[in-house]
Amino acid sequence: MTAELLAPYDRVRALRFDERGFWLLDQRALPQRSEWLAMADADAVVEAIRALIVRGAPAIGIAAAYALVLAARRLTASGAQARVDGYAAVAARLRAARPTAVNLMWAVDRMLDRCGSDPQPDRALAEARAIEAEDLAANYRMALAGAAFIEPGSGVLTHCNTGSLATAGLGTALGVIRAAWAQGKLAQVHASETRPWLQGARLTAYELLEDGIPARLIADGAGAWLLAQRGTHWVIVGADRICANGDAANKIGTLSLAVAAKQFGARVMVVAPTSTVDFGTASGADIHIEERDPRELCEYAGLRVAAPGVRAWNPVFDVTPAELIDVIVTEKGVVERPDGRRMRTLLAARSGPDVS
Ligand code: MRU
Repeated sequence: MTAELLAPYDRVRALRFDERGFWLLDQRALPQRSEWLAMADADAVVEAIRALIVRGAPAIGIAAAYALVLAARRLTASGAQARVDGYAAVAARLRAARPTAVNLMWAVDRMLDRCGSDPQPDRALAEARAIEAEDLAANYRMALAGAAFIEPGSGVLTHCNTGSLATAGLGTALGVIRAAWAQGKLAQVHASETRPWLQGARLTAYELLEDGIPARLIADGAGAWLLAQRGTHWVIVGADRICANGDAANKIGTLSLAVAAKQFGARVMVVAPTSTVDFGTASGADIHIEERDPRELCEYAGLRVAAPGVRAWNPVFDVTPAELIDVIVTEKGVVERPDGRRMRTLLAARSGPDVS
């Protein structure tokens, strides 16, 4: 199968930079409303990342890169030192917008490394566009590499949203599911709702319906029971940060699915571009797991659903240990049964030519 055959499954976009400015599709409003919001400046993007207007590890990295373009444009009227200081301050606010997805820090670092601390706006724009284009190309490559593991007649379960809405397009884990579906290999696709923000129920279900892929939604708590039925052969998820030893942080609930997969003989595939692989983080114990406002858990659409006065804990990611992961798929190669030694093959591949 060639990448062109996947194009019909890649119709949604989360962000757009055009001659009128930088736009984000408001993912808080989907699927009820499709609204594009204009980003007035870089700090509007910082707020959009915090508020999950744009979300998903690769997409927030790309959004940060375009935010730095807006900052470079805004600062052209200032003196040289003010430009350098102002640009560094925006970069710091972007890095701090969310703590777990390393693509955010990776994109900011790449913009600074390649374009300098006082970039010419057109140079910054070219780099941001390259980051976006490379992410899209990586997704097409990973889709085919991941689908190659899937046997005809398989059932798959995915968690959170890892599709076009979370990336430059096509998606990571959802890209693999799209490719396997296009190849006629899938007997069943399930998506878990992904409490509390409902990325699965609202966003993944929306993308799969757009594609005409007949998926079924399950409650998060139904994941282990689904796997116990033995018709689901793969749990396929994305990642927000993959450590040097192969531990992978992803949306809260991923760990429970990986544990249940081990119990019931399903395999776990983590699909992420190398911009998500952080060799500077030794293991999952070193990852800062974002904890969000407990109101996300206690309210729905502004309505209180939890008992008034109850205290809540809202970690939004968890870490799946490498030993529960069967394969990590990146655009530079796959790592089966990941551990520190096998992960290092990716480190060499990262600076080498693309793996097709
Ligand atoms: O809080 P979110 O919606 O940004 O979390 C997203 C996820 O956990 C995704 O699985 C991950 O970023 C990979 S997206 C290709």
